[in-house]
Amino acid sequence: MTAVLEIDNVHKWFGSHHVLDGFSLRVGPGEVVGLLGPNGCGKSTVLNIVSKLLSFDDGQVRLMGEPLSELGHRARGIVGVCSQHCALYPDLLPAENLRFFARLYGLSDKEGTQRVAELMRSFELDHFASTRVGQLSGGWKQRLHLAVSLIHRPKLLVLDEPTAAVDLEARMDLWRLIEGLRDSGTTLLLTSHHLVEAQRLCSRVALMRSGKVVAEGSVPELLARVPGQAVAKVQSEDHAALMQRALDLGWTVRQHTGQLRLLLPGDLGLRDIVEALDGTQVSAVSVQAVTLEDAYLELVGDSSLLG
Ligand SMILES: Nc1ncnc2c1ncn2[C@@H]1O[C@H](COP(=O)(O)OP(=O)(O)O)[C@@H](O)[C@H]1O
Ligand SMILES: [Mg+2]
Repeated sequence: MTAVLEIDNVHKWFGSHHVLDGFSLRVGPGEVVGLLGPNGCGKSTVLNIVSKLLSFDDGQVRLMGEPLSELGHRARGIVGVCSQHCALYPDLLPAENLRFFARLYGLSDKEGTQRVAELMRSFELDHFASTRVGQLSGGWKQRLHLAVSLIHRPKLLVLDEPTAAVDLEARMDLWRLIEGLRDSGTTLLLTSHHLVEAQRLCSRVALMRSGKVVAEGSVPELLARVPGQAVAKVQSEDHAALMQRALDLGWTVRQHTGQLRLLLPGDLGLRDIVEALDGTQVSAVSVQAVTLEDAYLELVGDSSLLG
């Protein structure tokens, strides 16, 4: 099946800064692909190239099988963008914002009216029909922003850190909304700072470092690349002795930002671990199944996204 988006060996320089260094990624129909990586690794640059806000220096980008360079302004009809920089009009009502963008994207009056009503309903924006957008909370602004990016029924929705600027409750609401889009078959490419968010929303995750993808796969595929099924986070005054014991037991030991992580076979419970570590100095230990956080640490080797 034709990919919705194919990025092949793309390079991008900002002056002498080589920001994308052979970046490749494919997004198939109905997939939700998450782009994860440390700050400054080039995530937004990728999204900005896909949405034609930025040019690139080398490589190939195809939307629905057609090179971006040949699509011209038709690319705008294929991609819907929701970046962190809200382009909403604060003095207008939600529906007026939607109507403005409907016109901008060339929907007829009739189509536009219909689509605005549809989105006001499905995003529950009707509650705030008479509130100027400037008065909406961050979460509701982001909801409206999502609705705006879908006004022209794009084949690909691109979201740049969709929940970065909202509180926890609004984040959960946005997750449910994005899950709804995913479950109705919308193709999505998103960046995130939240490993939990990516694990929850994405059918596939691409881990980035220094302008390229270093690992990609479904969440279970990435978890399978961690040398263990469970992780014990241990606090101790004596890391050296503890590490030696863990290595003697055949466990994999990792140290990140001063924290000791023991990667274990899945059949060990907390009691087994405490018994196995008996005689070493341990002040606290917790154990859980491996998550995307562990895969991220293992494959990207960067701890800046850890909660
Ligand atoms: N317009 C620009 N001019 C110069 N450098 C830029 C510009 N936009 C981004 N950069 C640099 O490119 C790198 C990647 O940025 P970005 O794609 O925003 O990273 P991310 O979204 O992963 O945090 C960063 O080092 C950033 O400072
Ligand atoms: Mg960014």
